Amino acid sequence: MTPPADPPLPSPRRARALQRRLLDWYAGNRRDLPWRRTTDPYAILVSEVMLQQTQVARVVPRYEEWLRAWPDLESLAAAPLVDVLRRWQGLGYNNRARRLQACAAAAVASARGGRAELPRTTEGLRALPGIGPYTARAVLIFAHNDDLAAVDANVRRVLTHELRLPEDLGAAALQAVADAVLPRGRSRDWHNALMDYGSLVLTAHSTGIAPRTRQSAFEGSRRQKRAGLLRRLLEHGPQTAAELAAALGLSGEEADVVIAALRRDGLVSVSGGRVHVA
Ligand code: ADE
Repeated sequence: MTPPADPPLPSPRRARALQRRLLDWYAGNRRDLPWRRTTDPYAILVSEVMLQQTQVARVVPRYEEWLRAWPDLESLAAAPLVDVLRRWQGLGYNNRARRLQACAAAAVASARGGRAELPRTTEGLRALPGIGPYTARAVLIFAHNDDLAAVDANVRRVLTHELRLPEDLGAAALQAVADAVLPRGRSRDWHNALMDYGSLVLTAHSTGIAPRTRQSAFEGSRRQKRAGLLRRLLEHGPQTAAELAAALGLSGEEADVVIAALRRDGLVSVSGGRVHVA
């Protein structure tokens, strides 16, 4: 069986009608979020990485504290990894913090003593650690108002519902729809509108449109063990694998597997018989 063809792209007229409706709604309902008060690409990147798997309400205070501690790429690049990871606790996925710092380090290295800046293109941004197609576009949209479309879970749900797209539409076809309905010159407002409409009106609950990817269960997972072991090191300093295993209620083998995974990710190292934050 051949798969069903993708639906036709929305006509310019339909695109304009959707733009008007959502932008009008946004004018009266916009959320005042701290990353909307800046166009600094670094601050936008911090917000986007924090928002990747964490809810807005949890991110807001952490975003503000982070930028007070490290207001620019240079200060983040120079920070000890332990401080970066300590400040990330509670946001989940410690790798994201390490990669965010690696982005800052890469930007500082390529500035060769000048003022560090993030790349100005999607290709340049995607070459940095941990920056995928969505995040690269989001940085250029929210920082520079570039004529680009970015599709996250909110945007997908709003476009799917409003344009009555098939729920199983593939990523490339969805991107083509998002490109087709983008109001030129207004990508920043447009994406804020899509995200607010998706968070406040067309929720997963109200639409019944399930997210494409779900976070895997945390309780009892390898991820939980990794997070617990790293947190223990951040709170109590370097320890032997046996001490960590005892503190976390893991078998020796389980602790070894978790430590090996954290070492591979560059989050911990082992020296003098003790495990350290890298
Ligand atoms: N989720 C991802 N990016 C966001 C943003 N800029 N505002 C609100 N929610 C988001």
